[in-house]
Amino acid sequence: MSELKNKKSLVIYFSREDENYAVGYVTKGNTEYIAEYVRDIVDADLFKAEPLIPYSKEYGKCIEEAKQRIGNAPIKNKLNDICKYEVIYIMTPVYWGSYAPEIETAVKNLDFTGKTVRIVTTHEGSGLANVVKDIKKLCVGANVLNDSIAIKGTECARAKSKIEMWI
Ligand SMILES: Cc1cc2nc3c(=O)[nH]c(=O)nc-3n(C[C@H](O)[C@H](O)[C@H](O)COP(=O)(O)O)c2cc1C
Repeated sequence: MSELKNKKSLVIYFSREDENYAVGYVTKGNTEYIAEYVRDIVDADLFKAEPLIPYSKEYGKCIEEAKQRIGNAPIKNKLNDICKYEVIYIMTPVYWGSYAPEIETAVKNLDFTGKTVRIVTTHEGSGLANVVKDIKKLCVGANVLNDSIAIKGTECARAKSKIEMWI
């Protein structure tokens, strides 16, 4: 989709550092690597959906907290509109089979009419899970491209060339 490279682009993403699946404590979450690669490749703006109340640093506790936040996940910062962007990249870890709940909070009142949306998930086995289907429901009016990709969490830090190919 190289013709999209020169369009004004925004990356909306969620990512959590601290204790990560199978690898211990990290200072940068898996999805953040991908968001930054896309920013660098297409010169996109970044919007990180940050939870109002941070998740527990412990993975096991975070898993349970995230379940409680489905459908009610306040975020610190707010994106008021996306009118100046043509392409919106939505990137999320798979949480309980779908997007991180903060993604829903970040995008739910935005006007996606006519916007091109591309999706990346990071995961530990579920791939895209229900993310594409659920984002299509959330981003009414968007043209969600049929080229979503799923990247295994442990591969994100080394995925720059994969992202370049995808872009
Ligand atoms: C609350 C929570 C729920 C998760 N649910 C799933 C899941 O359903 N399927 C899966 O493959 N991975 C799941 N994972 C693993 C994450 O999707 C994966 O490690 C991801 O790369 C984390 O991204 P981040 O480091 O950017 O936050 C879950 C992780 C957390 C913390």
